[in-house]
Amino acid sequence: MNTFSSKTRKQQAIYAEALKWHIDAGADEAINDIPTNFLALTKTAKQSSESDKTLPTNSVNEFSKNEPKTQKKSSINLNTNNENFETAEKLAEKSLSLSSLKRNISKFEGCRLKSTATNLVFGAGQVEADVMFIGEAPGREEDRDGAPFIGVSGQLLDLMLSYIGLSRDQNIYITNILPWRPPGNRHPTDTEVASCMPFVKRHIQLVSPRVLVLLGGAAYKALTNNSEGITRVRGKWFEYEQPVLSKAETQIIPTVATLHPAYILRQPAQKKAIWKDLISVRNRLNNIN
Ligand code: URA
Repeated sequence: MNTFSSKTRKQQAIYAEALKWHIDAGADEAINDIPTNFLALTKTAKQSSESDKTLPTNSVNEFSKNEPKTQKKSSINLNTNNENFETAEKLAEKSLSLSSLKRNISKFEGCRLKSTATNLVFGAGQVEADVMFIGEAPGREEDRDGAPFIGVSGQLLDLMLSYIGLSRDQNIYITNILPWRPPGNRHPTDTEVASCMPFVKRHIQLVSPRVLVLLGGAAYKALTNNSEGITRVRGKWFEYEQPVLSKAETQIIPTVATLHPAYILRQPAQKKAIWKDLISVRNRLNNIN
């Protein structure tokens, strides 16, 4: 009997260890009660995953070393004719302040990530900041606490920013392309990103920063519709153009993409590259102030 219960305890310890291993690896969400038979997926499912490869249009001019270039052609198929995108656009349009934008995002049912997330992760920092950082999507800690970039990659970012005189307590604003965590930290699909883009654009309009920094390839792709690799495009400044709220004017925001801090944690040898980009951000801010 004793042998049996100690064996059971041993077994339980092994299961607990296996569960912890999965959670540490990011697989910490049970999505469906019933397992999906992926072998039985129909043509319709395949078609809908293909329609996932669509993103909304943006107005972006690329330039490098301060030399304006002609508008870069998108390498992604654009399709904004879906109902969820239109609903998001309407909700975004009627958001005249950051608090109303947050409220309106929380009413939005057009992004399936909402159903598996614990909290809406909106933004943090100074609403009058000169510089706005945009990441990809919340992770586990962000989802748990409802605040962006508070996990290890956020802590690394905060540390790096402190060396160039930037912090969310003083002079930056930070948010993500997606306000809800993708389960298990998987990459968001293009459809999920597209349905939330009107909110991201409104967020930028409301903060109206003088410099925009995109953290990682996903944020770059979402804002530019360009799927070129982040290691090729990082550090190259370009113009992000947007209408000024309640004025018949447009605002041009100097924008740069850099490596995501989570990538730096995995590839420490890339620290040099992100430092170079952050110094370039510091210099640009010094020039506009
Ligand atoms: N990674 C992101 O892109 N955003 C967060 O908020 C946290 C991690």
